[in-house]
Amino acid sequence: MLSIDRLEVGYGESAVLRDVSLEVRAGQVVCLMGRNGVGKTTLMRGIMGLLRARSGSVRFAGRDLTGASPEKRARSGIGYVPQGRDIFPQLTVEENLLLGLEAAAGRGSKLPEAALALFPALRDMLQRKGGDLSGGQQQQLAIARALAAGPKLLLLDEPMEGIQPSVVMEIERVIETLKASREMAILLVEQSLTFATRIADYYCVLDKGAVVAEGSPANLTEEQVKRHLVV
Ligand SMILES: Nc1ncnc2c1ncn2[C@@H]1O[C@H](COP(=O)(O)OP(=O)(O)O)[C@@H](O)[C@H]1O
Ligand SMILES: [Mg+2]
Repeated sequence: MLSIDRLEVGYGESAVLRDVSLEVRAGQVVCLMGRNGVGKTTLMRGIMGLLRARSGSVRFAGRDLTGASPEKRARSGIGYVPQGRDIFPQLTVEENLLLGLEAAAGRGSKLPEAALALFPALRDMLQRKGGDLSGGQQQQLAIARALAAGPKLLLLDEPMEGIQPSVVMEIERVIETLKASREMAILLVEQSLTFATRIADYYCVLDKGAVVAEGSPANLTEEQVKRHLVV
């Protein structure tokens, strides 16, 4: 479904990712791991088209999207929840959700019921401003907004980062529900090895600009964890 081949992406002079190849199959959950600063977020932005590929390619659902705009990628079925949950703080929860629909299909006017069903707490907050929500609620809103468009691939960049434990459990439950539905593939950046190995069909570790380890989580070795993941 998503096929990244020898991708090179960076900022200014520095190439953060030199040679990244990665496949995500339909319905699969792939966990992207690696220490702080290795380029996990940079890869997400490269997939979404927020950073230009210097070489290599990004293909999705049979189409070459390497030069495509972020809007076109969203319309092709890629949903993105950036690290740090950037919802629109001045807009209401409802307006944020409708923008998610608009990203995919042009104007949205009906609330995304399926996304709201996954986060029932949001339904009671539809008229509140995004900025008045707690961090955990904002993260739920950011995920619901991405789901509103009915993506075929969901990019989740550290969704549990800095979030209260009760909401972490909620978000884990939602990811498990999405996985069970097999309606979308998920590429998840996740620091918790426990959750990553529980949820992932496949893992992939970045280090020094490339994929240095990948496979079934059952085969993730202590040596790999020590070498590439633990600080
Ligand atoms: N906007 C930016 N401009 C220049 N360098 C950046 C920018 N964002 C990130 N970097 C650098 O790119 C590298 C990878 O960052 P990032 O993708 O955020 O890593 P990760 O998500 O794995 O923690 C880091 O060395 C970081 O300092
Ligand atoms: Mg990051």
